Amino acid sequence: MKKNKIFVACDSANILKVKRIISKTQNSKIKVGYKFGLEFINSKGGRPFLSKLKNKTIFADLKLHDIPNTCESTVKAIKDLKINYLTIHISSGLEALKATKKVSGKIKLIGVTILTSLDNKALKDIGFNKNVKKLVLHQARMANKAKLDAIVCSAQEVKLVKKVFKKEIITPGIRFNSKSNDQKRVLTPKQAYKNGSDWLVMGRPITKGNIKKNIQNLIDHLSK
Ligand code: C5P
Repeated sequence: MKKNKIFVACDSANILKVKRIISKTQNSKIKVGYKFGLEFINSKGGRPFLSKLKNKTIFADLKLHDIPNTCESTVKAIKDLKINYLTIHISSGLEALKATKKVSGKIKLIGVTILTSLDNKALKDIGFNKNVKKLVLHQARMANKAKLDAIVCSAQEVKLVKKVFKKEIITPGIRFNSKSNDQKRVLTPKQAYKNGSDWLVMGRPITKGNIKKNIQNLIDHLSK
């Protein structure tokens, strides 16, 4: 049977903590990749650590959101890192997406749709006049046009996104229970896979408390 896949979000500026996350999440039941975001990559030891990390599926969650030239140059600047996945906000625009895809080579370029911490009210506050579902669908079409390799959306929108985007779908905003922290559009791991997510992104529900126990809880939850 194919293994379920998760990216564990290594959201810390502490190398020791990140090393602990990596060692405690090793298991034979689930395929685990590691996501490094702005906090870790910008920390003092973060980039050097990443440059030495081997034999792991690495997701650099840089969430590029800039003009085409800057996005493109950033990809060139991180080429020494052996990363497998990299994020760019789809709202950077079609031109930036295409320009970045052109130089990303073997790195899978992931388009980030509307952040899972935003709901319809938050979108209205920003000034968008489409609701979450309509915007995510619209952006999934753009990701398809730009030939991106993967998309990030909430697990609640996977079925919708699948109608227009046929490649990998990665979903953060995963919770076992109602403790959603700052996330607004959440689903359980089981629901997320059922909807068709290829990869889940899980941070705090795995990395806070007893990491080994949390991974076992996830395995048990999925086997029920
Ligand atoms: O701790 P939690 O499980 O909420 O972590 C989710 C991770 O996924 C964080 O690292 C966050 O930056 C990232 N993410 C997200 N929503 C997106 C894109 C990325 O939560 N739309």
